[in-house]
Amino acid sequence: INKKGVRLKAKRQKKMAEHIRVLLTEEEVDKRIQEIGEQISKDYAGKQVHLVCVLKGGSFFMCELAKRITVPVSSYGSDTKSSGVVKIVKDLDESLKDKEVIVVEDIVDSGRTLSYLLEMLKDRGPASLRLCTLLDKPERRVIDVHVDYTGFNIPDEFVVGYGLDYDQRYRNLPYIGVVEFD
Ligand code: IMP
Ligand code: MG
Repeated sequence: INKKGVRLKAKRQKKMAEHIRVLLTEEEVDKRIQEIGEQISKDYAGKQVHLVCVLKGGSFFMCELAKRITVPVSSYGSDTKSSGVVKIVKDLDESLKDKEVIVVEDIVDSGRTLSYLLEMLKDRGPASLRLCTLLDKPERRVIDVHVDYTGFNIPDEFVVGYGLDYDQRYRNLPYIGVVEFD
């Protein structure tokens, strides 16, 4: 690489520097999850609720939510890939027949993943099927999806933390942040 090339590369790397702007603090998120947990416990009083987590992002939210639900809980995981076409890469191991099912997702964006997943799970004969998402970007919706429990409606910005990743990073942040490039 010549002198000029090296300089250009350094400049490009500098441009790529990123930082996280806090959108929702850990306290705000925890408080809201507590509220949703209480609401679900009330709505499903006397029943057993079955949480279906949309991997991988949904698992962080599901763990926190499950801890705050006071009715009996069982949980499953299902993994999807979405890039216009949704694909199930890891299906559930258990039957949903006659169960009270809540699908737990980190974020609803275009709605493609969830509309596909909910249609698919409906065919398995659950007693009921609801959707709980930590975050929703309603502006981005391409396919209509009915959300039963929403943590927060957020603007159209790319967020990370609480299970949400940017290139597999930042999932572990205990708050929700926006990736910004300097
Ligand atoms: P949808 O099918 O467009 O609704 O896509 C939902 C999926 O896209 C989520 O489960 C996330 O994995 C991913 N996603 C959408 N928006 C964001 C974001 O702001 N940050 C990180 N992942 C996102
Ligand atoms: Mg997801």
